[in-house]
Amino acid sequence: MDAPQRTLILVKPDAMQRGLAGELITRFERRGLRIVGMKLMQIDDALARRHYAEHEGKPFFAGLVAYITSAPVVAAVLEGPAAVVVVRNTIGVTNPAEAAPGTIRGDFGLERGRNLVHASDSPESGTREVGLFFRPEEIVSWARDTDRWIFE
Ligand code: RTP
Ligand code: MG
Repeated sequence: MDAPQRTLILVKPDAMQRGLAGELITRFERRGLRIVGMKLMQIDDALARRHYAEHEGKPFFAGLVAYITSAPVVAAVLEGPAAVVVVRNTIGVTNPAEAAPGTIRGDFGLERGRNLVHASDSPESGTREVGLFFRPEEIVSWARDTDRWIFE
């Protein structure tokens, strides 16, 4: 089994406005990942800028911050073997127009600026982003016994 990892996902405002939160979270559950943190929240300007700091200065940055702060989002921490790459593969590439059918972006989206869901892009990003969105006491570890019926 690959080493267990934690990764952050955000159900973005376009998916929330379309009523897709449950459907998208279901896909991660069905994949076998387990939810160890989850909340509905409104991202403010400061958090959006910190979350997307790597994109500061790029032409799309202002629009990206405006978009991610435009409605409540569901933030969740998912855990599982190789969770970072598994979740990125489950959501598909950044531009939904190019995303493979069967992925979230390939099944529900058409525009790069309205791509439904965020996911951490490396184990280091996962650690940083989980820390940005969740206090340690908001992460709920499952009992070791449950590993037997979820993972091998
Ligand atoms: P995210 O961080 O939201 O999960 O998306 P991502 O890793 O697939 O893509 P990333 O490169 O981190 O870009 C963050 C978001 O910025 C918008 N974007 N627009 N106009 C453009 O060239 C452009 N490039 C990126 C997208 O909405 C993307 O999700
Ligand atoms: Mg990204």
